[in-house]
Amino acid sequence: MPLVPVKELLEKAEAGGYAVGAFNCNNMEIIQAIVDAAEAEKAPVIVQASQGAIKYAGLEYITALTRVAAEHASVPVALHLDHGTSFEQVMQCIRYGFTSVMIDGSKLSLEENIALTNKVLDVARAVGVSVEAELGKIGGTEDDITVDEWEANMTDPGEAKTFVEATGVDSLAVAIGTAHGQYKGTPKLDFERLRKIKELVKVPIVLHGSSGVPDDAIRRAIELGVRKVNIDTNLREAFVAGVKEIITANPKEIDPRKILGPAKKAMSAVIREKIRLFGSAGKA
Ligand code: G3H
Ligand code: 13P
Ligand code: ZN
Repeated sequence: MPLVPVKELLEKAEAGGYAVGAFNCNNMEIIQAIVDAAEAEKAPVIVQASQGAIKYAGLEYITALTRVAAEHASVPVALHLDHGTSFEQVMQCIRYGFTSVMIDGSKLSLEENIALTNKVLDVARAVGVSVEAELGKIGGTEDDITVDEWEANMTDPGEAKTFVEATGVDSLAVAIGTAHGQYKGTPKLDFERLRKIKELVKVPIVLHGSSGVPDDAIRRAIELGVRKVNIDTNLREAFVAGVKEIITANPKEIDPRKILGPAKKAMSAVIREKIRLFGSAGKA
């Protein structure tokens, strides 16, 4: 079927009390792994492209590959821009056929973030594209920050209310203790902050930096209103582990298909587990 807007998937997730997996892609094998896994689990799914993915593969390839995968799938697939950096980039993605965009104004002041998000919303609404915004700063696991800086980066529930009222954005990414990349220890999520945000804000909440977050914490976050869960690092780990295993077992292997095929299967297995954890299996 054609690519669907994320808004549609998250509205159903909100009604059903589950979350939809949003998996980062960089090449054909990853896109196939994501859509194959969703198909096997009969789950709606979001394929997303980061800044690095766009630089690596280009918007044309990402859009064309995902569109073909979606058209061959019996489950709904959305194509989403992850951490969009500018109004211009959002326009390019919409032109290529993305059905959803994130405009990440988290480094701006509250007023500037509201203004940029509204500018994107004006255009996106007119063409039926969904919009995710970010409030609070979700950093990287490697960021060395003080306790005060950590606190300052967290999403303020009152500001979240102001932001959503001033924009009417479709979904909101929040900083509640997760970070991008591999965690050094076990991440501690601020569930009380999430509970307060959800009390004040009625839109679906997005959890970034979800690789490496313990399953119980993911379940709790979904109970408290998270409806989109972003996973990239765990897919990279599965892909590279799959490649290493084959190359170690068969050092003379020269057929890329015999290396990338099993790596794709390893990624798909991880994605299927995540889909079940998020409660979206069987929801297509
Ligand atoms: O949001 C960050 C993604 O996990 C990775 O970003 O593909 O630009 O390295 P990247
Ligand atoms: P991870 O690095 O935890 O996979 O996070 C991915 C993400 O949030 C993409 O936006
Ligand atoms: Zn992210």
